[in-house]
Amino acid sequence: MEVVHISAECYPVAKAGGLGDVVGALPKYQNKAGITSKVVMPMYRTPFLYNSDWVVDYKAKAYMGGWEFEYTIIKEAHNKLGFDLYLVDIAGLLDRQKIYGYSDDTARFTAFQIAVVHWMSHWSHRPTAVHCHDYHAGLIPFMMQHCYDYNHLKSVPTVLTIHNAQYQGWMPWSQSMLIPKWDLSKKGLLDWDNCINPLAAAIKCASKITTVSPSYMQELMHHANGLETLIASEKNKCVGILNGIDHEVWNPATDCYLIEHFSVKTVTAGKQQNKQNICDQFGLDATKPLFVFIGRLVGEKAADVLPGALHKAIQTYREKASYMILGSGDPAVEAALTNLAMANSNCIKVSIGYNESLSHQLYAAADFLLMPSRVEPCGLNQLYAMRYGTVPMVRSTGGLQDTVIDMGDTGGYGIRFTHANETDIVHAVGRAIDVFENKTHLLWMRERMMQINHSWEQTVQSYTNVYKSL
Ligand code: ADP
Ligand code: GLC
Repeated sequence: MEVVHISAECYPVAKAGGLGDVVGALPKYQNKAGITSKVVMPMYRTPFLYNSDWVVDYKAKAYMGGWEFEYTIIKEAHNKLGFDLYLVDIAGLLDRQKIYGYSDDTARFTAFQIAVVHWMSHWSHRPTAVHCHDYHAGLIPFMMQHCYDYNHLKSVPTVLTIHNAQYQGWMPWSQSMLIPKWDLSKKGLLDWDNCINPLAAAIKCASKITTVSPSYMQELMHHANGLETLIASEKNKCVGILNGIDHEVWNPATDCYLIEHFSVKTVTAGKQQNKQNICDQFGLDATKPLFVFIGRLVGEKAADVLPGALHKAIQTYREKASYMILGSGDPAVEAALTNLAMANSNCIKVSIGYNESLSHQLYAAADFLLMPSRVEPCGLNQLYAMRYGTVPMVRSTGGLQDTVIDMGDTGGYGIRFTHANETDIVHAVGRAIDVFENKTHLLWMRERMMQINHSWEQTVQSYTNVYKSL
């Protein structure tokens, strides 16, 4: 069985969020399970590019609209990630430092997809499945089936994994000429609400669709940023598969970013040392419970509610807790959090930016991880937190509700709340402070969480079943 993953992100090559983590781990564990699983992604200018050895695999020219462009496929030489990794280099378009956020992102990801399909159409063999991740690879199933030049690929099955349906890659119809000559009678497959919608096109054209948690699959039929009726009508080819985590990367007993390693047996002392280190670094009191938020400061994560909620929590519980935020995103939220931290510098610190090393240290140091997300297709932060003995405080939605049991319920080890608002967050902080004072209960929850198995090993089989069903 041979599977080709196509994605905009893959850790540690380039990561903006959980998509990168998943595409950097799933193929590795698929190879361990005997599936030949490869990753194809754009060649950005990230440190991984310069710190690895590459061989040129293929070079050719393709067209996007009237523009002829050259692309080069390079392959990482030593299989250092545990799978074959191919990067697509398109000079002037993909070779930039950031993954997203450029005004020509539509052209960048369309050219990327054209190059991938063009390259695959020249292979002498056909893979078992082409596995597309999110809208950046969403035009691929359509192009494989309905672009005249890629007829060879028509019969290759495709899988779409929806990591996040909020982003759909909308393109005005005036940009339809970017897509290589296609069967005009199939216009309806590209269209949703009078524009080209790559995510909708993939939902219509892919042989199978997966979402990154079972609850998110259900939610999408009612909340999918405009695609609800489409998802509902395609539900027979959809399946929700909960993400795993890479236990080799996210392991408090070996994590190279931690100053002190720990396991279930040494969790209390181990976490305290990591907490002391963070508190010394940032000027916080390590005897108080430490609440952490890590993530993109955007509406989906309810980051806009954080400044008000934390302000209220500080007023309500006075000197009883410390807070630390790591993230970047909406400038207004960044500014509000920075101001809050300046006004309450003894108990709240904010680090604006993306910092892989600090994120690991915070999962290890924190007592509680706050995730009030409005939308959370799976969420990896809560899974990492649990592996590091940190109690997740989550809004009941998507993957959060599939992975966290409230401590008030039988066997529960987390804190759940219903609304992404100040009242619910402040109440949840109060419950957390109470449990922090009950050391026996806290230790029981930590030990329980750390032993939950969210490894990819057990999830890989669910994907294999999807490929077998094609
Ligand atoms: P999403 O993909 O929606 O952002 P996930 O919970 O699936 O959310 O994954 C987020 C991933 O990105 C995790 O690995 C988390 O640790 C990481 N992350 C998010 N923001 C930052 C940041 N500012 N610095 C370092 N890592 C971050
Ligand atoms: C997306 C989702 C997140 C999920 C991640 C990996 O970025 O927002 O919930 O965990 O993809 O699948």
